[in-house]
Amino acid sequence: MDELLSVSVGGAFASGKHPVKVENIDSLSQKIEETDVFLRKKGRDDAEGFGWINLPYQDLTEIIDIGRWLSKFDTIVQIGIGGSALGNRMLVNALLPPFYNELEMPLRKGPRFYLLENSDPITAAAMLNRLDLPRTVFVVVSKSGSTTETIAHFLWTWQRAKENLGTKAPEHFLVITDSRRGGLRKFVRASGCRSLEIPESVGGRYSVLSSVGLATAAALGIDVEKLLQGAREMDQRLIMRQHLWENPAWVLAGLNVLHARAGRNMSVMMPYGDCLSAFAEWFAQLWGESLGKNGLGTTPVRALGAVDQHSQLQLYMEGPDDKFITIIDVKKRPCFELPDNIDDDVLKDFEFLFGKTLGELLSVEARSTASALIKAGKPVVYLSIPEVSERYIGALIFFYEYITALTGLLMEVNPFDQPGVEQGKHYIYSLMGRHGFEEYISEVEQYFGKCRNIEIIL
Ligand code: PA5
Repeated sequence: MDELLSVSVGGAFASGKHPVKVENIDSLSQKIEETDVFLRKKGRDDAEGFGWINLPYQDLTEIIDIGRWLSKFDTIVQIGIGGSALGNRMLVNALLPPFYNELEMPLRKGPRFYLLENSDPITAAAMLNRLDLPRTVFVVVSKSGSTTETIAHFLWTWQRAKENLGTKAPEHFLVITDSRRGGLRKFVRASGCRSLEIPESVGGRYSVLSSVGLATAAALGIDVEKLLQGAREMDQRLIMRQHLWENPAWVLAGLNVLHARAGRNMSVMMPYGDCLSAFAEWFAQLWGESLGKNGLGTTPVRALGAVDQHSQLQLYMEGPDDKFITIIDVKKRPCFELPDNIDDDVLKDFEFLFGKTLGELLSVEARSTASALIKAGKPVVYLSIPEVSERYIGALIFFYEYITALTGLLMEVNPFDQPGVEQGKHYIYSLMGRHGFEEYISEVEQYFGKCRNIEIIL
């Protein structure tokens, strides 16, 4: 059986004032095992929130067909936010070449791809004004079918499409939403535009391996079968490992719970390599929204190796002992060799780099950072994947969804709801005048009033 990922946890314990020891995790072992049984059972029942566990086994025919249709356009603009965008950003970042949109065919193997995410007028106007509408398709993604930022962008693009394309406008829209609920589903029925469903039991931040992440990925030439294959293999291996010290998801979930209890309330995710920077962003939403409840959870911190060695590492090493750090390394990276020899005496001091590769340098930096942090007494998990390809990214996604859900259940919070996010959505609706949400207006004014009652004006 070849390797999907390897996880070294020897440096993940802590001594000193707030210790986390091997015996602490051993004593959690039975609870972890029981929680895992619960998670698996809920997954088999396809219970609300637990459906992501079954996504690696889904039939991809419809998604691949839609992907083929999308790939005929010059440009895809995906409209969505949070779990309806971050997974797409992560897949594109990891699996397409850098500067993808700037490449010409055939180096660029699919349409250009843009995400319309934030309700920022400057970005939206700049992007939309440069689109060639007859060659553009809009992919509108929202599980609820009503998120304000997404609907605002949708309304604008739909109106523009109608003005420019007339009755052909629906042929330039794909809507990915709940099968029954929400305003976007109504729009699909009325307009006759193409649509895909998001399985009911799958929540936004766990949806990257559903139609949400896979439809545009397929259109861009990402091998979605291989993504699922990697996720399936990870699932099977986790099922087989029924002893604590054989199962890295169990150990990491346990460590996270223990470090949180010991006061390490930040979880730093530091992959080495630009192509994994959006993985840290995706993880931040998954972790933050899933665990941050009832005064519990740990704050996800996005970092990037080696860049943040020159920005944040000082704080991680010698600042407060409030962080549990994960470093992700990649074993095989594309070769980019430095010159073998430079016939220039003045550069002799840099001889140690001659003939080395940049990939080698990046991995050396990952190992050095782990060592330096451990020397400073900071807890570190060192994780590596064989290479950045669909199979291993699929496996890594599933692995982190699993750890997040397990950690949440161990902390006794619901890792699949997001009442805080919903509260924010209700306030936005009320202030923007949505019917049925009037009751929140006075609440917003009351609390915002507190923010303003000591106003300092220059
Ligand atoms: O994880 C979640 O459920 C949220 O963060 C959502 O992804 C986000 O709020 C967007 O919601 P929707 O997909 O309903 O537009």
